[in-house]
Amino acid sequence: KITNKVWTIPCVKIEDYPRFAYRGMHLDCSRHLFNIDFVKRYIDLLAMNKMNTFHWHLTDDQGWRIEIKKYPKLTQVGGFRNGTTQYTSHDKPGVFDNISYGGFYTQVQIKEIVKYAQERYVTIIPEIEMPGHCKAALAAYPEYACKDTILEVATDWGVYHDIFCPTEKTFTFLQDILNEVTLLFPSKYIHIGGDEVPKRRWKESQYCQDLMKREKLKDEHELQSYFIKRIEKYLNTKQREIIGWDEILEGGISPKATIMSWRGIDGAVETARQNHDAIMTPGNFCYFDHYQSLSLNEPYAIGGFTSVEKVYSFEPIPEVLNEAQAKHILGAQGNVWTEYMSNTNYVEYMIMPRECALAEVLWTPKEKRNYANFTDRMLHNFKRLDLLKVNYARHMMDVSCMVSSTGYQIKAALKSPLSESTIFYSLDGSTVTANSIKYTGPIVIDKTATLKAVCFKNGNKAGTEFFQKFNIHKGAGAEVKLLNPAASIYYPGSDNYLANGIEGSSNYGDGQWFGFTGLNLDATLDLGSAKEISKIKINYMVKSNSWIYAPIKITYSVSTDGVNYKQVYSSTVDQADGLKSAPASFNSETVRYIKVVAENAGTIAEGKPGAGNPAWLFVDEVVIE
Ligand code: ACM
Repeated sequence: KITNKVWTIPCVKIEDYPRFAYRGMHLDCSRHLFNIDFVKRYIDLLAMNKMNTFHWHLTDDQGWRIEIKKYPKLTQVGGFRNGTTQYTSHDKPGVFDNISYGGFYTQVQIKEIVKYAQERYVTIIPEIEMPGHCKAALAAYPEYACKDTILEVATDWGVYHDIFCPTEKTFTFLQDILNEVTLLFPSKYIHIGGDEVPKRRWKESQYCQDLMKREKLKDEHELQSYFIKRIEKYLNTKQREIIGWDEILEGGISPKATIMSWRGIDGAVETARQNHDAIMTPGNFCYFDHYQSLSLNEPYAIGGFTSVEKVYSFEPIPEVLNEAQAKHILGAQGNVWTEYMSNTNYVEYMIMPRECALAEVLWTPKEKRNYANFTDRMLHNFKRLDLLKVNYARHMMDVSCMVSSTGYQIKAALKSPLSESTIFYSLDGSTVTANSIKYTGPIVIDKTATLKAVCFKNGNKAGTEFFQKFNIHKGAGAEVKLLNPAASIYYPGSDNYLANGIEGSSNYGDGQWFGFTGLNLDATLDLGSAKEISKIKINYMVKSNSWIYAPIKITYSVSTDGVNYKQVYSSTVDQADGLKSAPASFNSETVRYIKVVAENAGTIAEGKPGAGNPAWLFVDEVVIE
């Protein structure tokens, strides 16, 4: 609204500067394509958050999105796929939609976007994936593959075996492409991908094996390194430097490469120790394709759980680095892979407000970072996002809940993220209002219930409604002892959470699941006193693409003294993908102790995803009735 009001503002001198030089956001425009108006809006939002780099993921298996004049089939053929496999749930297979999908950015459009970004002090780093994630390019030009085959642009997600073959004509092809790329993008860096390169085709190829002998390369990792080094050398002649995903460390890093560490932070640590620069994009903190809330109403996402608070807690400088090495950490970036983000509304929902949190991590001095203060400011910042009609998520304003399971009792402690706010809750399934029960301290959950809670600030609901179902069975609150440890990233925090009344959802990253790599679940439960029981059940997860396999066998035993056990169930179980359980019913027993053993599938068999690696075993709640 325009008014005639005259504003006066006091004079002020602001001295401010960012902690890190590289403050980036990435967008995958291959899996899904977004029009140039949205790409500009994405850059605007980035600039609003004082970020300065846009990493534009332009090529992948599912679509080639950058016009290359010398190779028109890259976009004519590689820019379109025959359909898309649509997923709606983690426990259901995808369904092929048979709808042609595609498009690309013309060089005129790209120039316009580069200029638009420059005017906002944003550098665009284009990514041209090689030697893997290139099935769209090979669909257009199969002569650059190792095998004489006809390939199609991928219509499902994942990692494909068909990769560029390191022949002279492939290098010429890629150099021609990079020529045009460097003419479009003035950035110092060109990102050349390098992630997730299966070596099967190179192993099968006589040409590759001969090349390895000739160049004295001891394995296919060194061949990958040879590949990347040649590309780096070429780009260096054009005064450009390369960035690659952390896999390019394997087989030896190229002389001047900068590494983007995505499989955790170890790649960056190793890079800095080798006196190279690194950019942090570890999955647990910087992947904005993960869920940001464990609410069951979230739109379908790839998995994982990365809340705004988690993003805000990220410290880009690993403790293990000394001062000189730490200077090699240029900054960090939020990655936005769009397999499941088919429209711009959904992209906005996934980036905001996580992008705001990362922006503050990268700008603000470490000692000034304060999540509570950030949250209070974000409530105000939401008004700005409202005016811009950004479809942001409100979950950072949700109540959080810490469940404890000690002393044979389940308690829920609620916390509001905001200062000077009040939490109201219900246990009877009713929607929470300011007339619900006012929270004053941890709630004892002693019968099956759904806990719902909302925090209110200035009389208004600040976030969305938190809810948690509790199934208070005879084992809920038991003292649990695990013989073998779960992997630290898939350990809910206490052995007792194996029987805390909460069953894990179909998202194995929801913080409820115990994940064992190569090890058995071997759990003993102490109910505190003898109880009459006739049913035992444990839930397990099978998700073979994530190397999570069913146990070979599950056994349940019961005991009155914790020494002598009687087996009440032993069975092999369903191996198909999904969220499963192994229920057992038996003549009632009055016992205090229960032993549950689930035998890990061991080394993954040839032909299955993850072959040769130890299988993951994922289990949650032991339910006793
Ligand atoms: C990646 O997420 N494959 C870099």
